[in-house]
Amino acid sequence: MRRVPFGFMGGVCILLGVLGSAPVADGSEGGDAAHASTAQEFALRRLPNNLPLPNPGGFGASYSTAGFVDLTGEYFTPQGTNGRHCGTCHEPSDGWSLRPATIQRLFDLTWGLHPLFNIIDANTPLSDVSTVAARRKSYSMLLQGKFLRLRRPPANAEFQVIAAEDPFGYGTTSNLLFFRRPLPTANFKSLTVMWDGANTVAGDLHAGLSRQARGNVTGAQQGPPASEETIAAIVDFELGISHAQSLVLGAGRLDAGGARGGPEAQASQPLVEGRFDLFDEWRWDWNPYRRQIARGQELFNNGDHNGRRCGGCHTAANNGQNVNGLLFNIQASSPAFKKADMAVYTLRNTATGETLQTTDPGLGFVTGRWADLNRFKTPNLRGLAARAPYLHNGIVDSLPGVVTFYEQALGFDFTPREEEDLAAFLNAL
Ligand code: HEC
Ligand code: HEC
Repeated sequence: MRRVPFGFMGGVCILLGVLGSAPVADGSEGGDAAHASTAQEFALRRLPNNLPLPNPGGFGASYSTAGFVDLTGEYFTPQGTNGRHCGTCHEPSDGWSLRPATIQRLFDLTWGLHPLFNIIDANTPLSDVSTVAARRKSYSMLLQGKFLRLRRPPANAEFQVIAAEDPFGYGTTSNLLFFRRPLPTANFKSLTVMWDGANTVAGDLHAGLSRQARGNVTGAQQGPPASEETIAAIVDFELGISHAQSLVLGAGRLDAGGARGGPEAQASQPLVEGRFDLFDEWRWDWNPYRRQIARGQELFNNGDHNGRRCGGCHTAANNGQNVNGLLFNIQASSPAFKKADMAVYTLRNTATGETLQTTDPGLGFVTGRWADLNRFKTPNLRGLAARAPYLHNGIVDSLPGVVTFYEQALGFDFTPREEEDLAAFLNAL
């Protein structure tokens, strides 16, 4: 197998050195080449619960109800023909999403030949992937952490797509192209599955996740349908995983001093409507970094001076999903915020003649309803520091950038100090 010296296990190795023990590294047995995720290429077979793994905001950790995070099960086993498995795009050290830096490193180390780089996720299905230089160009969206989606307008929609402007020259009014970030496969609480809710099964999260896993095996992994035992193993694994930031430099462990950050407390957090109270005990802490995080939490809960509240949509206590599984339009697919390499589509309401422009129609392309256009899942907000860039299309690079985005897109109004406090809180989730 091709061994990759950096990345996921690079971080783990450094940490094991720091911790002075090696409870999990099993150097004697490598995975086979088909298991080529960054995690598995280091022959790591399991992650102990709460093992801190470095990320740009400090350290994150995972916690599994199984007692440890098994890196050898069906989730990390290629189920199809192209060598990809669930962990290829949902990497534990990247908050169970996938960071552009990880993708770029895999590209550099494998000349863009790692199973992640598959023509089905090139900029277009017709892109040239014959040479390293061609691949670097043709995977420019994937190298930013975004995966190709092609969607046809739904039958009987309340709208028509009347114009398409795609910088790659592929998307049309009848076959729309856009790109989305991998959602983290951890902290599942509410029912909505996928950015546009496409795999939601009313009233049944397990069924929704099963539908998603079946579709992924035959889609992104290009395999025959998986057995129901395999699908159940994958879904049970996902449902057992919690992930959160566990340590922030300056503030220290996020479950110290009476705080309840980190993944373990998240595992037992029920899906209930409520405020974030993880850092209540830090309001009067002696440590200024801790007090800042606690101030940020209050801003998230209570809103800006105009009464606009983050917690108004991110309603699930200490998790941030929407308790009712609602999807909202926060302007993330408005052309006003698009990057130069994103396509724009013009849609017309067939009843009223009204038009709108969008880079990704979201829920509206699932239901066909005009009112659902540009609505996206309200994602869980734990483990954010490990999984930049943010929003379905990755248009926001950093957590301070998220705060600025909300000021521009939804009219939130924070002072410079409040902006820093809120970003510090998001970084500690
Ligand atoms: C090629 C990359 C890739 C692979 C492989 C992959 N995923 Fe994903 N996954 C994504 C992307 C991208 C999204 C978001 C797409 C969207 O919503 O349109 C996603 C979304 C999801 C979601 C929705 C999460 C939520 O909060 O709604 C789940 C669940 C999921 N994946 C599980 C899996 C499982 C299980 C596997 C293996 C069977 C898998 N993924 C394999 C890229 C991948
Ligand atoms: C109107 C409902 C609503 C409000 C108000 C709201 N959010 Fe969100 N939030 C969402 C939705 C929906 C998404 C996903 C949108 C998308 O990607 O298109 C999201 C995404 C995010 C993300 C990115 C998560 C990721 O995985 O990429 C962060 C961080 C976030 N919100 C924080 C906040 C903060 C901080 C505030 C207050 C300043 C706030 N939200 C206010 C609904 C809301």
